[in-house]
Amino acid sequence: MYKVFIRSVGILAALVFIGTATLQAAPMTSKDEVKSNNRDWASFYPHQYSTWKKTSESAEITDLLEKKPQLAVLWAGYGFAKDYNAPRGHFYALQSNQNSLRTGAPVDAKTGPMPTACWTCKSPDVPRMIQEDGELEFFTGKWAKYGNEIVNSVGCADCHDSKTAELTVGRPSLERGFESAGLDMAKVSETEMRSLVCAQCHVEYYFKSTAWTDAAGNEKVAKVVTLPWANGLTVEGMEEYYDALEFKDWTHKISKTPMLKAQHPGYEIFKSGIHAQNGVTCADCHMPDIKIDGETVTDHQIKGRLSQMLDTCANCHDESPELLEAIVARKLERKEQLMEIAMNNLAKAHLEAGEAWRLGATEAEMAGILLDIRHGQWRWDYAIASHGSFYHAPEETLRILSVANEAAQTARLKLTKVLTKYDATNYVTPDFSTKEKAQALAGVPFQKLVDEKLVFKKGLLKEWEKDAIKRGILDPEIRQGMSDNTAYKK
Ligand code: HEC
Ligand code: HEC
Ligand code: HEC
Ligand code: HEC
Repeated sequence: MYKVFIRSVGILAALVFIGTATLQAAPMTSKDEVKSNNRDWASFYPHQYSTWKKTSESAEITDLLEKKPQLAVLWAGYGFAKDYNAPRGHFYALQSNQNSLRTGAPVDAKTGPMPTACWTCKSPDVPRMIQEDGELEFFTGKWAKYGNEIVNSVGCADCHDSKTAELTVGRPSLERGFESAGLDMAKVSETEMRSLVCAQCHVEYYFKSTAWTDAAGNEKVAKVVTLPWANGLTVEGMEEYYDALEFKDWTHKISKTPMLKAQHPGYEIFKSGIHAQNGVTCADCHMPDIKIDGETVTDHQIKGRLSQMLDTCANCHDESPELLEAIVARKLERKEQLMEIAMNNLAKAHLEAGEAWRLGATEAEMAGILLDIRHGQWRWDYAIASHGSFYHAPEETLRILSVANEAAQTARLKLTKVLTKYDATNYVTPDFSTKEKAQALAGVPFQKLVDEKLVFKKGLLKEWEKDAIKRGILDPEIRQGMSDNTAYKK
């Protein structure tokens, strides 16, 4: 059915790399430093730079809270209920983070809701600062502490060594994750590096509180990005890991459940799919070889839609683009159906639990219910948080969504009993069919958050940018003509 050239795709790219890149690489830098300014790389690698810059074409905001209002109920009491959009191009990763209502409106380096860890997957300035300040210092303090340092969006030095231009992993979290899972990153093949550079960011992680003492003797607490891989990369393995630590990302505002938030276990779920099992890497589909001026280069315009990638599929598949599109569209429909059911059941479970508490239900009556909600929502989130999962690993995605549904339904069955005991058999959950209604139920002060954010954007954010330009770590030319889309101010 398929003509498959997976190995040769990997090998071909590796040869291209040796043939063209390393020859030109020498002048970048001879020091042990991270060249985080993407413009610094442009004159050495014009084609890689120009295709990378085209990720700016994916600029549009898709407001997922508007598309799926249940989300605001599911995340009540947590940042994601404020603002949550579909992913855009790498060029915008940093802007998305700065514009998000989740990162709030700090007024100085010590204010705002988020820790420094929130920069981790946004910028090559992160490996630079980890090298300059040390990992523990980097993960100590508030997000705003590094506002004038983290100024370049996901780029060259995230995936390439600044001295040799070879693929590299500059985030220690991935190496530690490998170790905890009993794997050795030093032993992975060059081909696997074409996925591992992505796995620096497209993975599940949490912020592990870590006490430490700096050189001057000050006692500090770092929030260190940590991959929960010690029991394996599966949804069950990670759940076991978090449960054993009694870890929670937040307490749900309506149901009082100690919740887990899946980040984006994209690499993990991809590994369970047919492509990964056949040695296909992220770059094989998202970064195919293309010809520019007669030269074969890796396309650095990483795209997010199948319609933009059909040429790439033809490297390995004989089927017509129409057939492949239809197959993938059907995969998406199946996922959407199960996802919608899971989200509705989970949202109702939170609201019914909230009603049960209001009527005087006891901790003992609620404990088992809250555990079902915790596990159900964790599964649902793991399955869909990486967006491409329905395609990367369709069976695993549908399996996990089914189990999520089972847990949500079990919670609701138990809740029926509790509600009956408190004479609320006929309780009907309130309407959460629009973003406004759902955010109201979740207690999100939307307009206030927006007003504060706009003050931040006009003030501190502009100061950070000016300071970075003055110190030569940001080249203003790179941002010329850059759009500034948000979900709150079209
Ligand atoms: C998200 C990761 C990622 C980013 C960001 C990235 N690259 Fe690459 N790059 C790759 C991968 C993967 C390959 C393929 C290498 C291989 O197969 O050995 C590659 C290949 C290359 C090569 C080898 C020649 C070629 O085209 O295959 C050069 C040179 C290069 N990149 C330069 C750059 C420059 C310059 C930037 C910034 C403008 C950049 N890269 C940003 C992942 C990345
Ligand atoms: C330094 C962290 C980082 C690395 C490394 C990284 N990504 Fe991303 N990626 C992100 C972030 C953050 C976003 C979301 C950006 C936004 O929404 O503004 C994203 C978005 C994407 C998207 C959506 C693009 C769109 O236009 O919809 C795809 C696809 C993607 N990444 C694939 C990859 C692949 C493949 C690799 C490895 C070759 C990779 N990423 C490496 C952080 C990273
Ligand atoms: C066999 C090809 C293939 C491989 C390998 C692959 N992807 Fe994808 N990926 C796709 C396709 C196709 C889509 C888009 C499906 C759609 O149209 O929504 C996608 C979607 C995505 C998205 C969501 C983009 C968005 O805007 O919603 C991300 C992020 C992503 N992939 C990252 C990765 C990472 C990271 C890896 C490796 C761990 C990887 N992909 C491996 C083909 C692939
Ligand atoms: C580097 C080679 C390679 C690329 C590129 C590639 N595939 Fe595949 N694909 C494979 C292999 C290998 C299999 C497993 C074949 C088997 O076991 O029969 C597979 C299986 C599949 C299957 C059947 C399994 C399933 O999950 O339903 C579909 C559908 C598919 N690919 C679609 C695509 C699409 C769409 C693209 C482009 C976005 C793509 N592939 C890109 C190598 C590739």
